[in-house]
Amino acid sequence: MARVVAGKAADIPPGALKRVGAEGGDIVVANLDGRFCAMSDTCTHAGASLSEGKIEGANVVCGLHGAQFDCASGRLAKFPAKVPDLRSYRVSVEGDDVVVEA
Ligand code: FES
Repeated sequence: MARVVAGKAADIPPGALKRVGAEGGDIVVANLDGRFCAMSDTCTHAGASLSEGKIEGANVVCGLHGAQFDCASGRLAKFPAKVPDLRSYRVSVEGDDVVVEA
């Protein structure tokens, strides 16, 4: 398992999404009111980058057609995506850095 530094915590403020490159594919890191979470960045509906969407509650909303995924678990929360889940990743804050175990 690789550790990927997503960036400085201060640069991913509450409500922000950030796409992070990783060996197995891009990851989206979200700041849900101070709680970081991460999952695969590619929407299972038509492949949009979830980092270009927005946060609603505990979900990341795809900016293209509105599918929603629970950020902590990667579970599909709202259609039109058909393949249910995205892979989620453990996130921690180490010093100033947001670190994803990808
Ligand atoms: S590409 Fe994400 S909902 Fe369609």
